[in-house]
Amino acid sequence: MHKNIAVVILAAGKGERMKSETPKVMHKICSRPMLAYVLDLTRSLKPGKTVIVLGYQYEAIRKELPPDITAVRQRRLQGTADAVKDALLKLKGFKGTVLVLYGDTPLLKKESVDKLLKYHTENKLDATLLTARMNKPKGYGRILRDKYSSISAIVEEKEADDFEKEIKEVNTGIICFNKASLEAALKKVRPDNRKKEYYLTDTIKILYQQGKLVDGIKIADIHEAIGINSRLELARANLIMQQRINEKFMRSGVTIVDICSTFISYGAEIGRDSVIYPFTVIERDVRIGKRCSVGPFAHLREGTRVSDDVTLGNFIEINRADIGAKTFIKHFSYIGDAVVGARVNIGAGTVTANFDGRSKHTTVIKDNALIGSDTILVAPVKVGRGALTGAGSVIIKNIPDNKKAVGVPARILKEKR
Ligand code: UD1
Ligand code: CA
Repeated sequence: MHKNIAVVILAAGKGERMKSETPKVMHKICSRPMLAYVLDLTRSLKPGKTVIVLGYQYEAIRKELPPDITAVRQRRLQGTADAVKDALLKLKGFKGTVLVLYGDTPLLKKESVDKLLKYHTENKLDATLLTARMNKPKGYGRILRDKYSSISAIVEEKEADDFEKEIKEVNTGIICFNKASLEAALKKVRPDNRKKEYYLTDTIKILYQQGKLVDGIKIADIHEAIGINSRLELARANLIMQQRINEKFMRSGVTIVDICSTFISYGAEIGRDSVIYPFTVIERDVRIGKRCSVGPFAHLREGTRVSDDVTLGNFIEINRADIGAKTFIKHFSYIGDAVVGARVNIGAGTVTANFDGRSKHTTVIKDNALIGSDTILVAPVKVGRGALTGAGSVIIKNIPDNKKAVGVPARILKEKR
């Protein structure tokens, strides 16, 4: 634990540019609120204390937070400097480094923040910025440097003149401060800008003018620095995060045939030598075993467990279901609320009718069963071990082991399968 580091996360804004009722930081990237990624990063840094500044929908976000994080409410959203001031109220006895993170910068990686913290402490700086060189810097605060090329200020896009707008080096928003220097500078920040806000970024000019030590390091991969203000940036961030997730799976031994059309949620698990074909969606809390084949056009929804050597073919939706080893479900089927055994073969167009209009019911299909094409299994229902259903049958009664059921509604035949 780094007792002398406190993390402040700014997340009070509504996110006007999102045009949404949902607070910006709760918008999802690969099925997870963007704030969750910032919280992961924070936890990985092991700070002595973490304070998050919330405002818009304070209660709704606060109750989702882990208990070790202190939330503070910013009453009026008067800007990032005002937000940091509110956070400092919860850091009264703390001395050391205050690391400011923005809740809308979810792609940031631990390695970059570690570098920043190291540079900041080794050089005993008052403020250290994480900057990025962007070809299209629009929307970001620009880094101004003096004739010795030392950082002298940050100018916000709205305040920048044409010359300053040409500057490609931007503020990522991630800044390390010496707490005492930060407090002193915050007192001097005035809302004398177009937005009439207290800008945290103004502290840099203030510190520079006081002769304090301000420096910055450039982030290696600018993708990490994307701040999400609009749905366009949300989609961009989603793409980058998806790529990271897909790459992680590929590195662990999963084949992803087309990385651009494979959508795997954060937190899903896939075993070695499984192959994921294009246009497949795998939601969170899905676990897939080894040597499976999934897709193309498959949708695996939350709570699905797939054992080893399973084939899930095209146009398959699996929802809250367990699929046993070596089972085949190869062509357009819906399997929901089901427990399917090992070596089961499910024919094309099979549907588990799991919802009766009021509640969901379970379908159980035992090992080695053979489900004929176009079978409707009206849950709750059980298909016995080694049993068979005829093509087009509608199963409303349990089928004993090794028996055959056919028709609409299905009759169980006397003879063995
Ligand atoms: C900010 C920086 C800009 C930087 C960019 C990087 C300022 C003034 N500008 O601009 O230099 O290049 O981020 O992405 O800091 N927030 C609060 N309370 C407030 C206002 C904002 O908590 O009163 C939070 C927001 O919820 C958000 C973060 O602070 O998570 C940044 O605010 P935002 O309005 O997105 O700032 P930008 O215009 O992106
Ligand atoms: Ca932003």
